[in-house]
Amino acid sequence: MSAGAYERAYRRSLEDPEGFWAEAAQAVTWERRWDRVLDASAAPLYRWFAGGVLNTCYNAVDRHVAAGRGEQAAVIYDSPVTGVVQRITYAELQRRVAQFAGALRGLGVTAGDRVILYMPMVPEALVAMLGCARIGAIHSVVFGGFAPQELATRINDARPRVVVSASCGIEGRRVIPYKPLLDEALRRSTASPEHCLILQRPLAAAELQPGRDLDWHATVAAAAPAECVPVAATDPLYILYTSGTTGIPKGVVRDHGGHAVALLWTMKNIYNVSAGDVYWAASDIGWVVGHSYIVYGPLLAGCTTVLYEGKPVGTPDAGAFWRVIAQHGVKALFTAPTAFRAIKREDPDGTLLQKYDLRGFEALFLAGERCDPDTLKWAQERLGVPVIDHWWQTETGWAIAGNCTGLERLTVKPGSPTKAVPGYDVRVLDEAGDEVPRGQSGNLCIKLPLPPGCLPTLWNNDRGYIESYLTRYPGYYLSGDAGYQDEDGYLYIMSRIDDIINVAGHRLSTGGMEEVLASHPDVAECSVIGVADALKGELPLGLVVLKAGVTRPHADIVRELVQMVRDRIGAVAAFKQAVVVQRLPKTRSGKILRGTMKRIADGTEYKTPATIDDPAILGEIGAALRTIGYAQRSNG
Ligand code: COA
Ligand code: AMP
Repeated sequence: MSAGAYERAYRRSLEDPEGFWAEAAQAVTWERRWDRVLDASAAPLYRWFAGGVLNTCYNAVDRHVAAGRGEQAAVIYDSPVTGVVQRITYAELQRRVAQFAGALRGLGVTAGDRVILYMPMVPEALVAMLGCARIGAIHSVVFGGFAPQELATRINDARPRVVVSASCGIEGRRVIPYKPLLDEALRRSTASPEHCLILQRPLAAAELQPGRDLDWHATVAAAAPAECVPVAATDPLYILYTSGTTGIPKGVVRDHGGHAVALLWTMKNIYNVSAGDVYWAASDIGWVVGHSYIVYGPLLAGCTTVLYEGKPVGTPDAGAFWRVIAQHGVKALFTAPTAFRAIKREDPDGTLLQKYDLRGFEALFLAGERCDPDTLKWAQERLGVPVIDHWWQTETGWAIAGNCTGLERLTVKPGSPTKAVPGYDVRVLDEAGDEVPRGQSGNLCIKLPLPPGCLPTLWNNDRGYIESYLTRYPGYYLSGDAGYQDEDGYLYIMSRIDDIINVAGHRLSTGGMEEVLASHPDVAECSVIGVADALKGELPLGLVVLKAGVTRPHADIVRELVQMVRDRIGAVAAFKQAVVVQRLPKTRSGKILRGTMKRIADGTEYKTPATIDDPAILGEIGAALRTIGYAQRSNG
């Protein structure tokens, strides 16, 4: 760490990206060196390390065993919901992954085949991801909080040969049987995976369909271990579906080579951890944070990763995070601000902290949603360690902006995730595509090429990738976030420019929820907005206009709408409130004024848009929202 190290690295990464990333790539073990660091021949689609051959699983597991780390813990599984703490060494992980990969191979899975994982936070989930990587199969993890319809949509798009799941997940004290959800998803899907490999957990037994469903333990035990299969650096490692602006999720593709190089670089340079350190990302393997920082990043770096099956509060109390940090010697923790808001709400003075020795704890990293300065300050004061906000998204796979603590710790400015990380040429553009002056808001864009590890495309959909991200401003990647850069170059991420909202750090599409509401027989028109929430950051709220002649009690209709979203999208949508209105405010061209409704609901000042069709509707909306406790302070 030295003064100016960040600036030097940043400048070099933009002036000589190939030199910068070729140097970083030395830390990865290659089967065959690349021909070209950056292949721009199909721009705007770029490929990193073209011609290179490697295996991600080898880099994340086997090579650490070969280097003498076999007895070091690779994974610490800490599950307060089942009372289990398990230490899995690199040697044991290698054995389990090879065995699982052999089982997949026995089921006919080969390189390029897709495998969907619908799994709770258990070691077998990591084993399955790494097992796919070992034989070049492409995994696609679906978050457990999604309903069968969402799972079916992903199965239809990925067309997996095998689905891997478990008998249940555990949410706090609730046991959630996963297998009936999977069965329902398969009934609804048009693709037919040949097999489902089911992990039977002691808390629930899943019924297996003979022929199709196989018991994990028996199948894996009978398999012959599989060796690592070398694959092209540009081959897909995984597909991770994320919310777009409609109900159809986007299949973000991650490649092998660029991903391994970039993630390994981040472990030291952003998080300041090295082989042997204990690193904990308190997220879920269903999200990108889980992919990058529960599984691949820490394991590529030879760290010990903590796999936590619990919540920040209630399992059993708001001291759970401190207990895990102290018990396992965690050096760096990564989570979403909402987790800290939950802890702060239950234990505002941080009294539970006093029970634990956190002397080995060095830094807290936050991402997934805007980090409010109050939460940042609370965590800083209570923990006495740097609290680092960083900004990224499923598409990039690693931080676009952050404070690269391993390079040089820059001053923290609350409300800002600091500066662009080396590799990302971030620009703030106005509607015409011109850069705006410092301090002025605009669309946050990244000048192409994106660095290694970012999505090369969408699954089977180059055109969709280009249309959604690369067309609005030719030569730039459109992040979908709006914000500004201050005079010191610090970035501020203020809002999304599309219909995506962030609920408890979970990315959700309001468009997807609107599609569900619109399918209710009594609904003529609807809109879903994200309203401010002190715990979850944002919560979805539906505004519905009923068809003429509907006389049923509004409360019944709202109850049905809430249930429909839960059934079709899942509990994770946290859609619990809706209100019936007479009309929705629109522009003269018919566009619903969601942003204005959000400001009214949040009680923030708003301007009546000049393009509004009928300004009187805003007053009606304010009145309707007040009946459910919103719009308390606005000028509506
Ligand atoms: N399987 C099944 N259901 C799930 C689930 C899973 N894997 N994950 C969440 N759900 C359910 C929850 O049980 C809840 O159901 P409910 O409406 O019946 O209570 C619903 O989905 C909403 O979940 P969530 O938004 O997580 O709310 P919560 O009240 O259970 O917990 C927090 C709130 C803040 C404690 C929790 O969101 C949290 O710890 N978040 C921070 C960490 C994180 O996950 N970050 C993600 C990206 S870094
Ligand atoms: P996801 O793809 O689920 O990781 O969500 C990505 C989105 O979350 C981004 O596009 C932002 O809108 C938001 N986000 C992530 N990190 C931050 C952050 N540090 N500050 C503000 N918003 C963030």
